[in-house]
Amino acid sequence: MSMTYKPVISATGLFTPQESITNEELVASFNEFVSRHNARFADEIAAGEVEALQPSSTEFIEKASGIKARHVMAKEPVLDPDVMSPKWPERSNDELSLMAEIGVAAAKRAMESAGRDAKDIDAVLCAASNMERPYPAMAIEIQQALGIDGFGFDMNVACSSATFGIQTAADYIRAGNARSVLVVSPEITSGHLNWRDRDSHFIFGDVATAVLVEDASLAPERHWEILGTRLKTVFSNNIRNNFGFLNRAHPETADAADKLFVQEGRKVFKEVVPMVATMILEEAERLSIDSQGLRRLWLHQANSGMNRLIAQRVLGHEASDDESPTVLDTYGNTSSAGSIIAFHKHNGDLKAGDTGLICSFGAGYSAGTVFVRKV
Ligand code: COA
Repeated sequence: MSMTYKPVISATGLFTPQESITNEELVASFNEFVSRHNARFADEIAAGEVEALQPSSTEFIEKASGIKARHVMAKEPVLDPDVMSPKWPERSNDELSLMAEIGVAAAKRAMESAGRDAKDIDAVLCAASNMERPYPAMAIEIQQALGIDGFGFDMNVACSSATFGIQTAADYIRAGNARSVLVVSPEITSGHLNWRDRDSHFIFGDVATAVLVEDASLAPERHWEILGTRLKTVFSNNIRNNFGFLNRAHPETADAADKLFVQEGRKVFKEVVPMVATMILEEAERLSIDSQGLRRLWLHQANSGMNRLIAQRVLGHEASDDESPTVLDTYGNTSSAGSIIAFHKHNGDLKAGDTGLICSFGAGYSAGTVFVRKV
């Protein structure tokens, strides 16, 4: 007799850093950096040799992105106009590393919420847009800290890492290779953000999420059936980060701004919105789901304008906050964790039979859809 396995989402977990930076605090620090820079290079600016930096504004940030604040792992150095980057004490190899620490915190909450014991989990995927080191894998450190027997590995698909992780986990379940898989997304995006870049200094925030993907036979009573998953990638240089271990071969440019997050925000906006809306509609059709009947969209949290347009194309009308909730205002863009935070915070009120969509999109380009139904 052949068994059929059915992947479901058993639970999610969220770790939110205590510290948070408001737009007002962020802009005050940025503008102080700008005036110091312009004063320092006043002669060169007057001679036309150096370009004067322009100040940032809270009005622009909120209007362009919907972001009002973001959580960070280290507020003080980020806001110090002389530093403007996160800093923390270096940890020895015997200590749990920072990404693993927050990943473990989110994972424990997901396990608790499902009533799941470590011995029942078969695999850990650490799916995030930046890893703290090349190896050993963050996932294996998280696996060890949680006391899980089995295997783990890291995967990076930028902002789509979590949905790619969910499909990978679901495929392990479907194939019978695992019955319970943790997908952990620790996103310390403050480390790859250029806090001195006016165009993007307001975008990102830090967080960690975890999703427990399991076979239905193992799942707690309250869970979400995974109706279908779809992944898509299309190469683009419009969101790029050139940081990497081969940079050591080019010491003269190793510290350049392109070793941090850079984007052509307008192009991203224009190209990604239609790509994602089309992908969602095609996948809904393939799964025989009426897209206009979707009860809720948990979209990637990068920009409220992008989400408004995508939700409108999918639902056929302007989405309410209830239909397409946002966490951008307090979390900012948390890369792959964004749609999972939205799902985690806004799924409790849905009823059995309600259908929704978790959807991510970002660098690569990469996009992932996970259609779910509450059981
Ligand atoms: N404060 C004040 N003004 C600013 C500013 C800031 N921090 N940053 C840019 N501006 C100005 C620009 O100089 C420009 O002025 P100009 O019209 O006089 O030239 C104007 O605001 C518009 O700038 P632009 O960069 O075109 O803004 P935008 O409306 O496209 O918004 C993004 C910028 C990044 C918020 C937007 O493009 C976006 O969200 N794109 C989606 C991509 C994304 O979020 N990706 C993340 C990874 S998934």
